[in-house]
Amino acid sequence: MLEAKAKNGFVQDEVCKMLYQSYKHLNKTYHIQSYGCQMNTHDSEKLAGMLSMSGFSPAASKEEADIILFNTCCVREHAEKRVFGNIGALKKLKDEKPKLIIGVCGCMMQQEEVADRLMRRFPFVDLVFGTHNLNEFPSMLKAVLDGERTSSIIEGCEIEEGLPVKRADGVSAFINIIYGCNNYCSYCIVPYVRGRERSREPEKIVEEAKALADQGYKEITLLGQNVNSYAPNGEKDGFAKLLYMLNDIDGIERIRFMTSHPKDLSRGLIEAMVRLPKVCNHIHLPVQSGSNRILEAMNRRYTREHYMDLVDQLREHVSGIELTTDIIVGFPSETEEDFNDTLDLVNRVGFSSAYTFMYSPRRGTKAAKMPGQLDAETKKMRLLALNELQAEHVRANNKKYIGKSAVVLTEGYDERKGLAFGKMTNFKMVYFPADKDAIGRFISVKIEGEQKNSLIGRIEGTNMSRDAEK
Ligand code: SAH
Ligand code: SF4
Ligand code: F3S
Repeated sequence: MLEAKAKNGFVQDEVCKMLYQSYKHLNKTYHIQSYGCQMNTHDSEKLAGMLSMSGFSPAASKEEADIILFNTCCVREHAEKRVFGNIGALKKLKDEKPKLIIGVCGCMMQQEEVADRLMRRFPFVDLVFGTHNLNEFPSMLKAVLDGERTSSIIEGCEIEEGLPVKRADGVSAFINIIYGCNNYCSYCIVPYVRGRERSREPEKIVEEAKALADQGYKEITLLGQNVNSYAPNGEKDGFAKLLYMLNDIDGIERIRFMTSHPKDLSRGLIEAMVRLPKVCNHIHLPVQSGSNRILEAMNRRYTREHYMDLVDQLREHVSGIELTTDIIVGFPSETEEDFNDTLDLVNRVGFSSAYTFMYSPRRGTKAAKMPGQLDAETKKMRLLALNELQAEHVRANNKKYIGKSAVVLTEGYDERKGLAFGKMTNFKMVYFPADKDAIGRFISVKIEGEQKNSLIGRIEGTNMSRDAEK
């Protein structure tokens, strides 16, 4: 569904209308392939919104599309290689369909020289743009449709409100609250490709959440590289205050957020999580390493003791909370002892889920030039060991729920498995037999078993109230 018609700010409203007049009757279609984090997924929803507003509709497959967009990520080298490989593979399609439009955008394009390199290496790519000028997409698309090859990467940007958004499902929606990052963790490329922190005005966020509630959305996920530093007017504890405002919106039943930086997690936020019934019992709190020496070299600005203290406070006050995290292994100079500190922390916390990565040097970041870069084999061995340990924790965590009742907000239906699925407030995924009309409803499920990363159960009751879950 096309939502949030362009309001104040979306200057290319008129371009979309022009495109609509010219192209709607041709029934042209698009396919967007999104790499990387939720920020990119949500940007892709905005691109889809602008395309829909311009008279284009989603294609059944990439092969059938008239426009293909790749929204890229560059957080690790692996992500980049995949993108380059997949763009190369499009040449065949373009040879078969010379009118096919191929566009590449996202974080990778915002890196120095990458866009130029890409335009040179792939002459069949028509359109390239970065993360800071998403809003210019309609006029760039128009130029391409008029026969030009175009590339535009700009530095720094204001927040533009009112972009149309076409979201994937009708239950749970992403909302940006803060763009960019000021933290400069020494391994990370994100501050270079997403710019400085910019907080949206709370009124705009509330307005968007209300519009989503009117459209039937029940859950919102507030997005930012570091939501804890949300500070619209430089005010203290801006994020906790925002949660209080959002909790009052009728129709929105669950509020999630990601990502939280441990150094900025305030008492005010923990209090908000306790007091506000709609704020979910889950926090994604990337720890990155369990070694104080490595945390310092990473410029994370907290210690493992501080992290453990936060975990204790969260567990003490927010009943039933589950924690998830991100961990990097093989950071420059990481010793066996440092790595064992990470394993030890994983054992102590018991994360319900963890995203684990091998350190990948990124050009332009501080860590890429640090001495003591580890060889691929060592990083791989450590990742395997960490994953094995974490898998045990996932199993143990899953087992806790077997035999218990859980309130699940049904998000979708997996055709292959023939099962409906949704999450508990604490982010645990549950599959259960149900009709498709379960989607969008709170359902009480008796948990009977576990799969690798999810639980399986059967329905006990429908139309539960959200209140039953806290
Ligand atoms: N803003 C979020 C995460 C951004 S990137 C945060 O601060 O936690 C998502 C994850 O990718 C990071 O948490 C980190 O674990 C991982 N990551 C980032 N840069 C990386 C690199 N150079 N090599 C390996 N993993 C990296
Ligand atoms: Fe990267 Fe650190 Fe910013 Fe997260 S907080 S985006 S890891 S620099
Ligand atoms: Fe990747 Fe950009 Fe997200 S680099 S992880 S898509 S902010």
